[in-house]
Amino acid sequence: MPHNITIRNTEFSRISEVDFNHVVFGKVFSDHMFLADWNGKEWTAARIEPYANLSLSPATSAIHYGQTIFEGMKAFRNGDDVLLFRPRDNWRRLNISAERMVMPEVPESLFMEGLKTLLSLDKSWVPSSEGSALYIRPFMFATDDFIGVRPSEKYCFCIFTCPVGPYYSKPLRIKVEEKYSRAAQGGVGFTKCAGNYGAAMYPTKLAQAEGYDQVLWTDPSTHTLVEETGTTNFFSVTSNSVITPNLHETMLAGITRDSVIQILKKENIEVEERPLSVSELKSLHSAGSLKELFITGTAATLINIEGFAHQGLYFDVIQTGNTNISDMLRSRLNGIRHGNLADSFGWIDKL
Ligand code: COI
Repeated sequence: MPHNITIRNTEFSRISEVDFNHVVFGKVFSDHMFLADWNGKEWTAARIEPYANLSLSPATSAIHYGQTIFEGMKAFRNGDDVLLFRPRDNWRRLNISAERMVMPEVPESLFMEGLKTLLSLDKSWVPSSEGSALYIRPFMFATDDFIGVRPSEKYCFCIFTCPVGPYYSKPLRIKVEEKYSRAAQGGVGFTKCAGNYGAAMYPTKLAQAEGYDQVLWTDPSTHTLVEETGTTNFFSVTSNSVITPNLHETMLAGITRDSVIQILKKENIEVEERPLSVSELKSLHSAGSLKELFITGTAATLINIEGFAHQGLYFDVIQTGNTNISDMLRSRLNGIRHGNLADSFGWIDKL
C-alpha cells in the first residue's frame, strides 16, 4: 500500500564537504532522513525531511524508560547501482524487538518504501571506495510526553544514513567477561533495544582500561559459555569445523552471522551452532586446533580476533594454523554485497 511520503528537499547539500576516502564511522550523516509517526492507531505523516535535530519534550517517554529500538543495515555501490543487503531481514528483526518492547509493528511496505525513497534521494551519498558503505540506521522510539511508567501511545519511526568506512580497523583483543552480564534469561537480550548497548558500556570500559578492545559476553547464569561480543556475533574455526554459539534469548540473531553460516554450508564446510564453552576454546587452543576466531556484524562486517583473555591469561589465536576461512568468508560476503559475485542466496535488493 503506498504511503504517500511527502518530501522536503534540503536547500543546502553537505555532500561536497565530505572526504569519502576518510569517513569516520558514524560521524557523517547524509542530507535527508525519513520519519513517520504512530498516533496510537496507525502510522501517519510519512515524510522525508532534511537531516536535522529532532525537537522533543524533556518528558519524552523513550528518554526515561528506554522504549527505543534500532537496526543497522548497509547499502553498497556498484557503478550506478545501489545494492541493499538483506533489508527485509532487518525489517523482521525490528518487529521482533518492537513486540518485546510493546511498541507498534512497522509494516513492511512503510519500512521498504521509506527506505527506498530516502536512498533514491541520497543515492550520491553511497560511497564507492573499497571497505566503505552507506550505513543505514532505522529506529523507533516512544514519544509520549508523560512520565508515568506504561507503554507510550505515540512513537516515531525514523531512518537516517551515514557513509562509513570500517568500524574496526584491525584484529581485536577481547576479554571473556565473567562478572557482568549483557542479558538475562527472560530479558531483552534477543532484541536490538538501546538499553542492551548502554548497559554494556561500563564492563566494556573496564575491559578497555585493561588493554582489550571488547568484551566477549558469557551466559548470565554460569559465565562459562560464550555468547557474543558487545557489537557482534562470535565464531571459532577449528581443525574440523566452524563453531558458533547457538541462538537463544540472551543473544542477538545477527544477519551477518546468518549470512556466514549460509556461505559455510554452501561451501560444504561443517558449521556447528551449539553451546561453546570457554574451557573448550582453551582446550582447542592448547591442542593447536583453534585456527581462527572472528566476529561478525553489520557495522563490523567480519573481523578477526587476535586473542582472548580469560582469568588473567591471554590466548593468542591469530595465524596459529594454515586454514583461512575468515578471508574466504570476507571475500564472498564483500563480493556479493558489492555486486561483484553472483548472489545465489537472494540477499541483494537493488534500489
Ligand atoms: C550494527 O552492527 O549495525 C550494530 O548495530 C552494532 C553497533 C554499531 C551498535
